[in-house]
Amino acid sequence: MDSRVTGGSSGIGKSIAIECYKQGAFITLVARNEDKLLQAKKEIEKHSINDKQVVLCISVDVSQDYSQVENVIKQAQEKLGPVDMLVNCAGTTMAGKFEEVEVSAFERLMSVNYLGSVYPSRAVIATMKERRVGRIVFVSSQAGQLGLFGYTAYSPSKFALRGLAEALQMEVKPYNVYVTVAYPPDTDTPGFVEENKTKPLETKLISGTTSVCSPEQVAKQIVKDAMQGNFNSSIGSDGYMLSLLTCGMSPVTSITEGLQQVVTMGLFRTIALFYLGSFDSIVRRCMVQGKKSEVVDKTA
Ligand SMILES: NC(=O)c1ccc[n+]([C@@H]2O[C@H](COP(=O)([O-])OP(=O)(O)OC[C@H]3O[C@@H](n4cnc5c(N)ncnc54)[C@H](OP(=O)(O)O)[C@@H]3O)[C@@H](O)[C@H]2O)c1
Repeated sequence: MDSRVTGGSSGIGKSIAIECYKQGAFITLVARNEDKLLQAKKEIEKHSINDKQVVLCISVDVSQDYSQVENVIKQAQEKLGPVDMLVNCAGTTMAGKFEEVEVSAFERLMSVNYLGSVYPSRAVIATMKERRVGRIVFVSSQAGQLGLFGYTAYSPSKFALRGLAEALQMEVKPYNVYVTVAYPPDTDTPGFVEENKTKPLETKLISGTTSVCSPEQVAKQIVKDAMQGNFNSSIGSDGYMLSLLTCGMSPVTSITEGLQQVVTMGLFRTIALFYLGSFDSIVRRCMVQGKKSEVVDKTA
């Protein structure tokens, strides 16, 4: 198997690359920073299962120039052969109140998280259809299933991936090419550490209602779902519930999955209403406390 992982030099992408390498895959890592790429390559190579395996590094910005992305994908194809699985994991995040987020941040997040997945996928799809083999993974987020306080810039860029994935899956399924959208929860990565520095109090408190996963756990599930050709990839029981609840008109992979969606919808909607109520009260509490401290400030 030949896997290309964008964002493969760090966090979830690096763990996905390790997981694929452990299964004997050839790997191409795509990211911008060359030092980080080489560091990740060394780490991944420790997990080889045979001496033919290769880790190739490509330094490119996946969100800027389509022809540049297409060229480097072609170069990798000449060296390692056609890609069997493309994992679009390059991404960036930040949180903040809508009116406080710079307008340029809305553009940057859409560009990296959405176009940065369109470009590599567009560059490999013709070959996958021709060969009638292929897996394309889009790493969205639970914030791509529901919008939460502080994510007005991030959530839309992750929701967009689902629309892309649904439409693309309908086009490529007859060619035996399968699309997976992964919705990871908060995951302990360098990117998550950076994101935490930007989170408003409300976002921190809402995020605190669920636990943080390890990148290895997330990667295992994503690779398993992609190999099985599952459209949805969710992690943990919260993730599973959220995926059933937000399935909409997304493709079903099995009759069992479809039945679970139909049977559990009412129950899960009830649980979701409870969660939404508690998130609203977190936001209201923060507002009241904010007002109180303003009053204290004025009188001080
Ligand atoms: N961690 C979480 O809690 C979480 C939860 C849900 C979803 N996700 C999603 O999972 C993905 C990975 O997140 P992570 O936390 O593992 O992030 P991370 O540790 O910050 O890693 C991000 C990776 O993407 C690469 N990258 C960023 N911008 C790029 C660009 N323009 N072109 C090429 N490569 C680029 C980075 O390398 P360079 O900077 O060197 O380019 C790095 O390899 C993201 O799409 C994120 O939105 C994360």
